[in-house]
Amino acid sequence: MRKLILAGIAAAVFVAPGAAFAQGPIIVKFSHVVANDTPKGKGALKFKELAEKYTDGKVKVEVYPNSQLFKDKEEIEALQLGSVQILAPSTAKFAPLGIKEFEALDLPWLFKDEETYDKAMKGPVGKWLFQKLEAKGISGLGYWTNGFHMTSANRPLLIPADFQGLKVRISGSKIADRYFRDIGSIPQIMAFSEVYQALQTGVVDACENTPSNYLTQKFYEVQKDITVSYHAHLQYAVIVNSKFWNGLPPDIRTQLDKAMAEATDFTNSIAVKENEDALADIKKSGKTTLHYLTDDQRKAWQAAMQPTYKWARGRVGGEVLDLVAKELHIEMN
Ligand code: LMR
Repeated sequence: MRKLILAGIAAAVFVAPGAAFAQGPIIVKFSHVVANDTPKGKGALKFKELAEKYTDGKVKVEVYPNSQLFKDKEEIEALQLGSVQILAPSTAKFAPLGIKEFEALDLPWLFKDEETYDKAMKGPVGKWLFQKLEAKGISGLGYWTNGFHMTSANRPLLIPADFQGLKVRISGSKIADRYFRDIGSIPQIMAFSEVYQALQTGVVDACENTPSNYLTQKFYEVQKDITVSYHAHLQYAVIVNSKFWNGLPPDIRTQLDKAMAEATDFTNSIAVKENEDALADIKKSGKTTLHYLTDDQRKAWQAAMQPTYKWARGRVGGEVLDLVAKELHIEMN
C-alpha cells in the first residue's frame, strides 16, 4: 500500500510539463461565499457552463458556493497558494492583502445607480484597481454587481440616532466601519458564513447586505426590521491566480476569457431583477418589516455619514478618490 502511494506521488511529480493537459481535463476551482441562487452564484454557474462548452470539456469548472471550501479571509490566501483558481470576493475584502484602494467603492451614496457603477468599473477606475492586484500574483477578470445594501436590526432604523450603540456586522471595509461609526453604531468585521448565527444569538444586533443575500442567508428571519436604504454598493472582483491563468495553453485561455466575458455580462444583467425578486420574497414571508426612508431621513443619514468622505483620503489615498470623482463628476473633499 505504502509503495503504491509512493509510486503514485513519483508519477505525479515526474509528469512532463503540459502532459497534465493531455491526460484529462484541467480543473478550475471557483469558490465563493454566497448561495447558488444569487447573482454571483448564478454567474459562477454560467461561467462553468460556458467554459466547459467552449473548451469542449478540456476544462472542468468546479463551483463551490456558500463558503464550502473557504471562508472570506482564507479564500484570497488560498488563491495565492494555488489551492483555488477563481474567486469573486466583494471588493471590501482586499485590505488584508495590503490593498486598501478598493474600499473607495464602499463610500456611502457614491454611485447614483447601476449604470453609473458599471461605467466606472469598465473605465479607468476599474482598470486602475485591477493593476493593484498584479503585484500580489492576482489578475482581475471582471467586476460583478450585487446592487445596493439595505440595513437591519430588531428595531426600525430610520434616523441616525436609531443606530446608537448597535453592534453592526460588516464584511471587511474600513469605509463601512467609518460610516457606521459616524451614525453611532459599533461595527464588527465577521465572516459572511457566521452572520446568521451571530444575528440569531445576539453576538451582533444589526447588519447590512443586499436583498439576495438577506433572502438566501435567511437574515430576514432574525432581523425584525429592514430599512431599504440602498446606502452603499456591493460589488465583486472576479479574480484568478495569475500564474495559473498565464500558464494555460493560449487557445484554452482565449476560450475561458470569452466564457468569463459572457458570464460577466450575464451576471450584471440579472442582478437588479434578482434583488427585486428577493426583496419581494422577503416581504411576502411576513417575517420582517420593510422600511423606506423619506427624503428627509435619507438626507439625515447622508449628512451624518459625510465625514467618512474626508476620512477616506487618509485610508484609501487621494489617487483613487480623484479617479472616482472624475469618473462620477462629483466633488470629493
Ligand atoms: C459579505 O460578506 O457580506 C459579502 O461579501 C457577501 C458576498 O456577497 O460575497
